[in-house]
Amino acid sequence: MRWDSLWVNVSAATMAPGAGADAYGGIPDAAIAVANGKIAWIGPRAELPAEEARSTRHVHDCGGTWITPGLIDCHTHLVFGGDRAGEFELRLGGASYEEIARAGGGIRSTVAATRAVGEDGLFAAAVPRLRRLLGEGVTTVEIKSGYGLDTANEMKMLRVARRLGREMPVDVATTFLGAHALPPEYEGRQGAYVDLVCDEMMPRIAADKLADATDAFCEKIAFTPAETERVFAASARAGIPVKLHADQLSDLGGAALAARHKALSAEHLEYTSEAGAAAMGRAGTVAVLLPGAFFVLRETKLPPIAALRQHGVPIAIASDCNPGSSPALSLLLMLNMACTLFRLTPAEALAGVTRNAARALGMGDRGTLEVGKRADLALWRIGRPAELAYWLGGNPCIGVVRRGEEVAMAEAA
Ligand code: NIG
Ligand code: FE
Repeated sequence: MRWDSLWVNVSAATMAPGAGADAYGGIPDAAIAVANGKIAWIGPRAELPAEEARSTRHVHDCGGTWITPGLIDCHTHLVFGGDRAGEFELRLGGASYEEIARAGGGIRSTVAATRAVGEDGLFAAAVPRLRRLLGEGVTTVEIKSGYGLDTANEMKMLRVARRLGREMPVDVATTFLGAHALPPEYEGRQGAYVDLVCDEMMPRIAADKLADATDAFCEKIAFTPAETERVFAASARAGIPVKLHADQLSDLGGAALAARHKALSAEHLEYTSEAGAAAMGRAGTVAVLLPGAFFVLRETKLPPIAALRQHGVPIAIASDCNPGSSPALSLLLMLNMACTLFRLTPAEALAGVTRNAARALGMGDRGTLEVGKRADLALWRIGRPAELAYWLGGNPCIGVVRRGEEVAMAEAA
């Protein structure tokens, strides 16, 4: 087979299970060949098939740097109007996230701001946030709705997310999060709002192919487990896979509920029980941990890391970029927090933004450096992969490749 390009003089953290000599699937002096946007060959440079290598059009000498799969931020609320810096000050003054939400602030204040902005305005506000992520080697990002909370505005948010995927050098996976909070006009009529989500929003969003997954916020200040089940049933009818904001502030059995519905992922999980972790392990549901929200909300209850490991639950890490609980624009900082706050190893953290993040999005075509996977690559000026989780506010990314094509760093960052 004719190769389009070849990367040499590089150490590879393949993140492929069982590959290489270490937890990163490391190949010290590697070569990676790309054909038709996919990885056509990867291995030690010394074993490179000579004939194909000679006829390769573009050979990139990486100067002894490192290469990883392009990073995947699998949980964001990147599209929103306004910001909540004022609420940040209130919380520092002693008010809790829940108190602010119950008083009509929190998510509802972002709903008002998001409804007030048109698609162009939302797009323009999201672009610089997205650029910050892309500059750190992110090649796939998930974006949720959930600040529109009526049919027109939820669809507006999802269209903006789709447009970001078309116009920016990144793949966007969209998630419909109509069951994020109760909009003010439905106060006292929560069942009727769930009807709207299931019977009107879901079919229209499915018809326009606006969502790759459905999510819900199952929590005392949001939707009950029974309401969440209704949303999941509607999603199943529409043929859309599910994921869940589960057990963030209290244990409502969200992790087990997600597992019962074969959810791709359950997210946050600070209050998840051992039984919840076991159910996720059996179902193959990914645990998406969000250290940014844990940090900003000054949470002290840790997600059940030991139980997740014990039950073989794949762990992903994401920014949860949102204006309230995690105004995070750096996935690398989340790697550090996953290690420092949650005691993940740097290799677990990196698997959390590559292999396991891909799985949380149901994307079997990426997340590791293996033959046949998409050639989404990030190049780093680092001495060892642990450095990706080491710096606070550092960015050693020196190159991004998407589907085998180099992304201009000026375009990404
Ligand atoms: O993932 N937990 C619910 N949703 C978001 C927060 C959204 C917001 O506060 O605006 C989260 O933390
Ligand atoms: Fe979230």
